[in-house]
Amino acid sequence: MSRWWLLVTFWVAGCTREVRPEAPPPAPLEVTLFVSSELKGYLGPCGCSENMRGGIARAAYQLDAVRQTGRKVLLVDTGNTLFGQSAIEVEAIAQQERKAKALADALMAMGLSARANGPLDDVRGAAFRQGLGLPDFPSNAVWKVPLDASRTLAVVSSANADELVTRARQARASGAAFVLALLEGPMANALPLGQRDDVEADLVVATRGKDELAGETNTLSALRVPVVQVQSKGRSLVRVDLSLKGPGRVTWLKSPTETQRELDALAQRIELLRAQVNDPSMDEGLRQLKKAKLEEVVARREALANEPVPVPGEVSAASVRFVPLETSFPSLPSVQALVTAYDRDVGELNVQWAKTNDPQCEPAPAGRAGYVGSAACRSCHAQAFPLWEASKHARAYPTLVEQGKNNHLDCVACHVTGWKEPGGTCRVDRVTGFDAVGCESCHGPGSLHVADTSPRSIVRASGAVMCVGCHDRENSPHFSLEKYLPRVLGPGHGEPPPPDAGAPLSPSPRRR
Ligand code: HEC
Ligand code: HEC
Ligand code: HEC
Ligand code: HEC
Repeated sequence: MSRWWLLVTFWVAGCTREVRPEAPPPAPLEVTLFVSSELKGYLGPCGCSENMRGGIARAAYQLDAVRQTGRKVLLVDTGNTLFGQSAIEVEAIAQQERKAKALADALMAMGLSARANGPLDDVRGAAFRQGLGLPDFPSNAVWKVPLDASRTLAVVSSANADELVTRARQARASGAAFVLALLEGPMANALPLGQRDDVEADLVVATRGKDELAGETNTLSALRVPVVQVQSKGRSLVRVDLSLKGPGRVTWLKSPTETQRELDALAQRIELLRAQVNDPSMDEGLRQLKKAKLEEVVARREALANEPVPVPGEVSAASVRFVPLETSFPSLPSVQALVTAYDRDVGELNVQWAKTNDPQCEPAPAGRAGYVGSAACRSCHAQAFPLWEASKHARAYPTLVEQGKNNHLDCVACHVTGWKEPGGTCRVDRVTGFDAVGCESCHGPGSLHVADTSPRSIVRASGAVMCVGCHDRENSPHFSLEKYLPRVLGPGHGEPPPPDAGAPLSPSPRRR
């Protein structure tokens, strides 16, 4: 269970070194700092499962809502922002660059103050990245963001812990009101920094998932210096509320224990309800009830998390929490417009690329099967076919059409049959016959079997591996063979055929 709802805290010894007796004390200042991490080119979730978190326009709304209250709002992004993979196929370059541009525009519209650079940001070259005009700052330096006439927030970033400690010390010595330290590495590398007593940063952020599947959860360790890691792909933000009064370092505030306990319980309820609304065997009426309940619990947790923590007397104080960007949260229209423009442009770009370059699928090598499409299976499998036709798999491509995303290279592979496979489909604008999750998506290519009709020339069942290429952790996080498989089978398709079924295939002795 993740612990992203914790409001943490720790008392850090006040530091008197910065007191300048001759200067009048600066006026109190309320600042909210948001931190995003490893956006990896995500403008929003695909919507493959119910209640998928995230979306840059939802994040923008959160910042805007705080700005409306009169607080100063800052956004720092910790890198690996622009692209999701270290290699981009030639056909996807136009789409990925357009998306990086949309994301950069959105971040600028949100008032991005500083951005660390990650290896995934330079996948299209440093020049492309620099052309986006983001406030990128170098590793191993002290980057200052003015808060008002006399105060600054300092950001330091490094892959090397000792280097980070040195830069944080320099930032502190320069009089920064708050020092944010970005450790370009996983949580495990950042945690020791939370315990070292020579760390003069106020907050340490671990900015890289340890592998492709990491970065799934929000984690916070309330050490001497708090250490956090935030969900990747724009699913959550870190929110730090600063109340700057006297000089000296901030004191971390703690929300009351009972509040924490309740937040904890609500978060568990949310995870449970999310799994329930994604159970394909759930009755539709009940699902709607569970969805309404989920929204209610999300709203309750949000209200509780937003309750102000009492700030003691005349000291500078800080509190930190995560903001998971739930589907029930509103989007900021001006940023949503940037996403909508991207969605519109990218379909056109991809179709244009396909027309110009005319990519062709390879024919199947001699003796190996190629994809032929589901229509070729109909005549002989008169029981399986209508079952499949009535399933959601048969509607997978229309789902994309309804979303206006059928020409998106991020989407098409799992919503058609035989994408970029021998005999299959290799052009976004030429999917006729393959425009569904068809028979061959599960049974494999069928050209040899159509010719010889032998059961040996086609895959019957191979367990979850048949499914998890598409039903992966990201797009179908609640997938289990036990719950999903019965939904695709039926009489004549993995179950005994009905007695009066006039199937063209006489039931043959089964091998099981
Ligand atoms: C890795 C494979 C994969 C990719 C890529 C993918 N999808 Fe999906 N999509 C799925 C799976 C699997 C499901 C069904 C999930 C479930 O029910 O557990 C699904 C379901 C959906 C649904 C819900 C359909 C319904 O019945 O309610 C929508 C909408 C959707 N996808 C849109 C998209 C869009 C838009 C993109 C591109 C941004 C995309 N998908 C990319 C695999 C994928
Ligand atoms: C010309 C008729 C014909 C066509 C077309 C055809 N099949 Fe078959 N299929 C058969 C026969 C015959 C069997 C064996 C039935 C048996 O043994 O009960 C079979 C068996 C199967 C089996 C079960 C294999 C096993 O190990 O038990 C699968 C799966 C299958 N077909 C899928 C497909 C798919 C997918 C397509 C379309 C690409 C397709 N078939 C097209 C005739 C056909
Ligand atoms: C080629 C990709 C792909 C493969 C392989 C695949 N699926 Fe799917 N599946 C999808 C997509 C896409 C959807 C969503 C379709 C839609 O509603 O638009 C989906 C939807 C479903 C649904 C409906 C979920 C719901 O919410 O009602 C079930 C059940 C399902 N798949 C089970 C399976 C099982 C079991 C396997 C393996 C035996 C499998 N799928 C293999 C892509 C795939
Ligand atoms: C979501 C994945 C999936 C799709 C799509 C799918 N099947 Fe199947 N099919 C299976 C699985 C899994 C089994 C094995 C069931 C078992 O052995 O218990 C199966 C079994 C079969 C069998 C043997 C059935 C029997 O009872 O003897 C045939 C024939 C078959 N499928 C044909 C088709 C045809 C034709 C289509 C398209 C119209 C299709 N399947 C679409 C997953 C799928």
